[in-house]
Amino acid sequence: MEKPTNPFGINRYLGAEYFCDREVETNMLLSNIAQQKHTTLFALRRLGKSALIHHVFHLLSKKRNQKCIYVDIYATQNLKDLTNQLAKSIYTIFPEKKGIGKSFWEYIKLFRPTLSVDELTGAPELSLDIAQPKQLEKTIPQLLTFLDQQNIKIVIALDEFQQILTYPEKNIEAILRTVMQQLQNVTFIFCGSNQTMMHEIFNSAKRPFYGSCSNLHLEPIERKVYHDFITKMFLNDTYKIQDDAIEYILDFTNGYTYYTQRLCHDIFEQKQKTVTRENINQVILSIFYEMKGNFFQYRNLLTPTQWHLLNALALEERVTQPYTRHFIHKYNLGSSAIVKRSLESLIEKEMVYKNGDTENVHYAVYDKFLMRWLQRK
Ligand SMILES: Nc1ncnc2c1ncn2[C@@H]1O[C@H](COP(=O)(O)OP(=O)(O)OP(=O)(O)O)[C@@H](O)[C@H]1O
Ligand SMILES: [Mg+2]
Repeated sequence: MEKPTNPFGINRYLGAEYFCDREVETNMLLSNIAQQKHTTLFALRRLGKSALIHHVFHLLSKKRNQKCIYVDIYATQNLKDLTNQLAKSIYTIFPEKKGIGKSFWEYIKLFRPTLSVDELTGAPELSLDIAQPKQLEKTIPQLLTFLDQQNIKIVIALDEFQQILTYPEKNIEAILRTVMQQLQNVTFIFCGSNQTMMHEIFNSAKRPFYGSCSNLHLEPIERKVYHDFITKMFLNDTYKIQDDAIEYILDFTNGYTYYTQRLCHDIFEQKQKTVTRENINQVILSIFYEMKGNFFQYRNLLTPTQWHLLNALALEERVTQPYTRHFIHKYNLGSSAIVKRSLESLIEKEMVYKNGDTENVHYAVYDKFLMRWLQRK
């Protein structure tokens, strides 16, 4: 990978040198893959799930006899979309011309594939012509069985896996689970951010996936480790950044990965010999300026009660007991029933997250920039 102009990645994986920590998680994934154990990876949004998968896949790319297939199913709405997305991801890893790619192409001819190109990205788009629901149910198992027979080890990451719960077809887990039990060479990583949904899929004794995977959970990167990483990234390019400036950044972002990366990315772009608090404040203001339109848009999309609660949560940063009289009175939120309804709705819209185990639950605004912006008003 060539040296990036900015060491803080915000929209793509830049390589192992620019990837902070996650050593324990990386090793666990590598070890699960080596043992062909399936993994579920779940965490709040923007903490670095997808980046971790790309990192692990990058490390595995050096291994012969091992191929990694990444499938993002965020935009899929039904089994047919999922099937096409999987077929496309396989096609991307095994191009048509030779070896497995050649046999794959021969194989999927059965399904009359149409190949096109995404005009914006230049990436291939593949769609299979499957009209019969019965055939559709068989296609993913067939594709996976095909892969299984190629005498190489394959890892498939299904990112945003909770999306399957929104499909009209309710048997996706059963279809996958059945074929998974027959596969010898294919290992899965199921990745998702919606805690409740991922929990429902994997930890409910009534459902097909119960007990079938090893669970991996991401927390924010340890503060000291992130601190040292930031120092190093600046120093590599001979810029200086004082310890208290880094602490200021990490306080501002609560150490959440995306917000920290984004802030550092923009600060780095300023190319100051020595980064001061004033430089950081300037960058924060320009981020606010850029996001302001979105933030006001949120206000229009939420009811006044929801907006009001969002403000209260932002001011408190994290709330453990949103139904207490103290909290309700302090922010004039009406009644606990109103708070409950609004909170559920904010969680569903992913404006607020609920985190922690049952005894230690807390609620907070998801977007840390929005949280800081609301605190200023
Ligand atoms: N360990 C890391 N070191 C450096 N940058 C990272 C790290 N983890 C994540 N990032 C960066 O932080 C941003 C958010 O990470 P990523 O998109 O992987 O999060 P996510 O958990 O998949 O989020 P979402 O739930 O929204 O899909 C990305 O720009 C990514 O490049
Ligand atoms: Mg992701």
